[in-house]
Amino acid sequence: MRKREQWGSHWGFILATIGSAMGLGNIWRFPTVVGESGGGAFLLIYLLIVFIIGIPLMIGELSIGRGAKRSVVGAFRRLSPSGRWGFIGFFGVTAGFVILSFYAVIAGWALAYIVKSFSGQLTGLDVIQTTALFQSLVEHPFYPLLWHGGFMLMTLLIVRMGINKGIELGSKVLMPLLFVLMLILAVRSVTLDGAGAGIRWYLWPDFRALSLNVILSALGQVFFSLSLGMGAIITYGSYLSDQENVPKSATIIAFGDVGIAFIAGLIIIPSVFAFGIEPDTGPSLIFITLPLVFQTMPWGSLMGGLFFLLLVIAALTSAISLLEVVVAYFMDELGWSRPFAATLTAVIIALLGVPSSLSQGVWKDFLVLGLPLLDLFDFIASSFILPLGGLLTAVFIGWVWTPKRCLKEINKAGVNFRLSSFWSIIVKFVLPVVLSYILVTGFFFS
Ligand code: PHE
Repeated sequence: MRKREQWGSHWGFILATIGSAMGLGNIWRFPTVVGESGGGAFLLIYLLIVFIIGIPLMIGELSIGRGAKRSVVGAFRRLSPSGRWGFIGFFGVTAGFVILSFYAVIAGWALAYIVKSFSGQLTGLDVIQTTALFQSLVEHPFYPLLWHGGFMLMTLLIVRMGINKGIELGSKVLMPLLFVLMLILAVRSVTLDGAGAGIRWYLWPDFRALSLNVILSALGQVFFSLSLGMGAIITYGSYLSDQENVPKSATIIAFGDVGIAFIAGLIIIPSVFAFGIEPDTGPSLIFITLPLVFQTMPWGSLMGGLFFLLLVIAALTSAISLLEVVVAYFMDELGWSRPFAATLTAVIIALLGVPSSLSQGVWKDFLVLGLPLLDLFDFIASSFILPLGGLLTAVFIGWVWTPKRCLKEINKAGVNFRLSSFWSIIVKFVLPVVLSYILVTGFFFS
């Protein structure tokens, strides 16, 4: 057997996992769903779900990965006494295919915006013009596909290189830089004329906005943003050394991820109000809003270009983890070589993304359940496949692998997990009940 690769260092692991968690989910998707879901009340529910569901599940997924030292399907199979639980992993592999296919489309738009911004095309525009500019990009039958393909190619090249060289490197220097740039943008945005109404809308919960749909979206957002329910965290955990403190790492990762999303909201929502944009504009929201913010800053084109560049890199570190789940599966289970598995799956995923891309332009009148295909894939993957994967994972830990064995794994290197009894109750009872309730009601009534 091949010797299993391992992370180079403690921070290499934390940053790579934050790299997986932090991406378009925080900077593109979070402000978009906050806008669609009525602001403050959504934020509150989102935070609640992070604490009750997100962090406990992340602790569980990291432990499964480290305990089994296998990719997602093999991990469940190996840790279950009967060997019959491997099927949970298939949800993960499927989610990897679906999510990456539309993820790369949006990352492709961000790629195009790097060029647009550096070349000064985003200056001197009003809302109508930034909207038109975005439309002309996504409605083009060919260019968005080219950017989409380019992004998939970059993802493929990094995954082909393997974990140490590829994934850690990108995360170490550039993510802190993105963080600083986002702080600067947030300060600019909250001091815009008319930003106050947006800040209030974002931070002050109005519970009249709350509905089953909002709860379902908050749940989907937590899973999507923390990369949960599909084995990305399990796969990353499988490369984790036994010395690592799992609960502490999970908490740092979750806080980092939520912090970035929160700041992204602080950048987008106040400026949406300041420029009179509809908060529920949908997937185009940040692409319409951000150019308007950059214009109000010195060196706007430069700042904008840099921002989109870093956004693409953040998206890349997430895309890598999505592809890695699928690739690790084919390597571990079918014995394929890394380059072969990576290339074949990347090509299939790139093709799968084509309908999503076209759904924003040429096919925009083709709606399923009232949604364009890109939005539909996103909705199904985030609000159903991931939470279902999470539910099965919780049942697996709570009742099959058992919290006792999981805690033995967590406490292996003398770690003292103080909240262990609380965590066991959450995984055994709270997660299965809450997740089934939201999923069932969401499925039938949303
Ligand atoms: N969490 C990533 C983001 O926020 C997306 C992702 C989802 C990555 C699921 C891996 C698994 O962009």
